[in-house]
Amino acid sequence: MMAACRRVVAFALLVSAGLVHRVAEAGERNHKYAEGDEVTLWVNKVGPYHNPHETYEYYDLPFCKPVEGVETRRRSNSLGEQLEGHELMNSGYLLSFTKDVAKTKVCSMKLSAEDAKTFASAVDNRYWYQLYLDDLPIWGMVGEADETGAQSIYTHRKLSLGYNGPNVIEVNMTSENLVRIEEGANLDFTYEVTWIPSTTAFANRFDRYLDVDFFGHQIHWLSIFNSTMMVVFLCGLVSLILFRTLRNDFARYAKEDLGGHATGSEHGISEESGWKQVHGDVFRAPLHLMFFSALYGIGCQFLALVLVVVGWAIAGPLHGDVYEERGELVTSVIVAYALTCLVAGYTSGSYYRQFFPTPRSEQSSQWQKTMLLTVFLFPVLVLTVVFGLNIIAEYYDTTHALHLSTIFKIFAIWLFVSLPLTVVGTLFGRHWAGKADFPCRINSMARPIPLGPWYTHPALIAAVTGILPFGSIFIEMYFIFTSFWNYKFYYVYHFLLLVYLILMVVSICTTIVAVYFLLNVENYHWQWLSFMASGSTAGYVFLYSIYYFAVKTQMTGLLQTAFYFGYTFVFCAGLFLLCGALGVIGGSLFVRRIYSGLKID
Ligand SMILES: *[C@@H]1O[C@H](CO)[C@@H](O)[C@H](O)[C@H]1NC(C)=O
Repeated sequence: MMAACRRVVAFALLVSAGLVHRVAEAGERNHKYAEGDEVTLWVNKVGPYHNPHETYEYYDLPFCKPVEGVETRRRSNSLGEQLEGHELMNSGYLLSFTKDVAKTKVCSMKLSAEDAKTFASAVDNRYWYQLYLDDLPIWGMVGEADETGAQSIYTHRKLSLGYNGPNVIEVNMTSENLVRIEEGANLDFTYEVTWIPSTTAFANRFDRYLDVDFFGHQIHWLSIFNSTMMVVFLCGLVSLILFRTLRNDFARYAKEDLGGHATGSEHGISEESGWKQVHGDVFRAPLHLMFFSALYGIGCQFLALVLVVVGWAIAGPLHGDVYEERGELVTSVIVAYALTCLVAGYTSGSYYRQFFPTPRSEQSSQWQKTMLLTVFLFPVLVLTVVFGLNIIAEYYDTTHALHLSTIFKIFAIWLFVSLPLTVVGTLFGRHWAGKADFPCRINSMARPIPLGPWYTHPALIAAVTGILPFGSIFIEMYFIFTSFWNYKFYYVYHFLLLVYLILMVVSICTTIVAVYFLLNVENYHWQWLSFMASGSTAGYVFLYSIYYFAVKTQMTGLLQTAFYFGYTFVFCAGLFLLCGALGVIGGSLFVRRIYSGLKID
C-alpha cells in the first residue's frame, strides 16, 4: 500500500516536474564535486531574529555588491522555496572544492549616513542572515551592539568546510572583525576558507541540524505515553459504557415491546424514551446537505493528505528526499493536496448521493453544486488569507511576497490536477459508494425535537467533546509550533504519526459518546454534532496558538502578527475539517450499528 502510494506520489512529482521545476547549478544537482570545481555560496534572506516571516532580500541591507566580473545571479526557485520566502543570489565568493582561500576581499564600501542608519537599526533589531552552500544552510548575525549601545558590523567571514570524498559534508562559519557603524566608516568585507576532511557520511550530513535534545526531550516521550494511556482508558470506558448501556437499552426496549403487546395499548410506545424514539429521523439528511457533504469530503481529503505527507517523510531515507532541504515539505504538501482531491470528490460525492435512493429523487443540478463546493471551499479560504497576507508582504517588500509565476504555477496545479481529480472522484463516488442502505426507514414527517435541559444543548456538547482530543495532541502542537516559528527542523515524523493515530482514536471515541448523549435526548441532528464536536478540537488549538504567541514568542509588528495568525488560522481550519470528518466517520459507524440492532415494529 505504502509502496504504491510512494510510486503514485513519485509519478506525480515527475508529472508536475514541469510546474514545480528546480534549476540546479552544476555540482549542486548531484552534490558531487571534483577537486577544483566551483562551489557556490548563495546569500539568502535577512530579517529580525524574532520575526521568522519578516525576511528581506540579502541586498535590501546596503551590503556592497561583489567585485566586478562576478554576476549576482538569481537562482530560480521551486514552489516550496518560493512559498517559504527563499531568495537565493550568488554571493560572489570564489570557492573551489578542497582549495583553501586565504583572507580575501569581496568588496569595500564607505558608509553613507543613510546606510549607517539602516545597518544600525538592523543590528538593534538583531538581524540575522542566511547563506546556503550545497543546500546546507548557514546562519550568521549581521552585527552586535556593545553595552553602551554602539552598533558594530561583522566584516569577516571565516568558512570551515568539511568534505568527504566528492561531497560537502558540513559548513561552519564564524563572523569576525567587528567594525563600528558610523557615517564615513570604511568597510572591507573579507572571507577565508579552509577545507577539512570529514568522516561523516553524506547521508548523515543533516543530522547536526536536528535538535535531538529538543525533540527527544523527556516531555515528548512522556506526552506520547500519556496520550497512549488515555486512548486505552478512553476506549475501555467507551466500550464499557456503551455496551452496558446499550444492552440495558435493548433489554428495556424488548420488555416494553412485550408489555405493549400484552396490554394491547398504544401506551407502551409513547412511554418509551431515549434514542430509539428517533429511529424514523436519524437517517434524515443533515441540514444544508450540500455544504455538509463538501466539508466532510474535504475533511476526508485532509485525513489522507496528512497520512501521505507524514508517510512520505518517514520513508524519506528510502527515496533520498529529506524535508530538511529548503521547501521540500511545502512542495510535498502541495503535490499531496492536489492528488488527494480524488478523495475529497469521492467522499463528498458518495455522501451526498446516499440520501437519494433513486437518481430521479435528486434535484438534477444539486450534486454538481456539491462538487463545486468541494473544489472551491478550501482554496477560496486559503486564497483569501494569502491575498491579505500578500498585500502586507508587498507593502513591507519581504521575500514572502508571492511572484506572479508562483501564483500561476499554483493555479495551474489546481486547474489541471485538483479540479479534474475532484470531478473524477465525485463520479466514482456517486456510482460505487453512494447507496442509500440505511437500516431504518425515514418517517415522512420530521419529529419535533424536545427542549431538553441546558446541558443538552448541542453547542455545549460539541465544545466539551473537543477537550479530550485536544488534550491528546497539545504537547505535539507545542513541538510543531516551535519548529514552524522558531527555526527548528521538525524531523520526528514517527512521533507525529503516532500522535495522529491517537488523535483519530480519541476523536472517534469521544464523538461516539457525544452522539449517544444527543440521541438520548431525542435530538437527531447527530451529523452536524459529530462534525462540530470533533472539529472543536481545532478551536482549542487556535486558543492555544494565542497563548503560544503571547508567551512563547517575541514576535512584533503587523507583518509578523498577521503571518502568524493567518497561517495558524489556515492550519486550524484544515484541522477543523480533518477532525470533523473523523467525528462523522465515528458517529456514522456508531449510529448505523445501534439502529441496525433495533427491531422496529
Ligand atoms: C564545525 O564545528 C564543529 C563543532 O564546533 C566541529 O566539531 C567540526 O569539526 C567543525 N567542522 C569543520 C569542518 O570545521
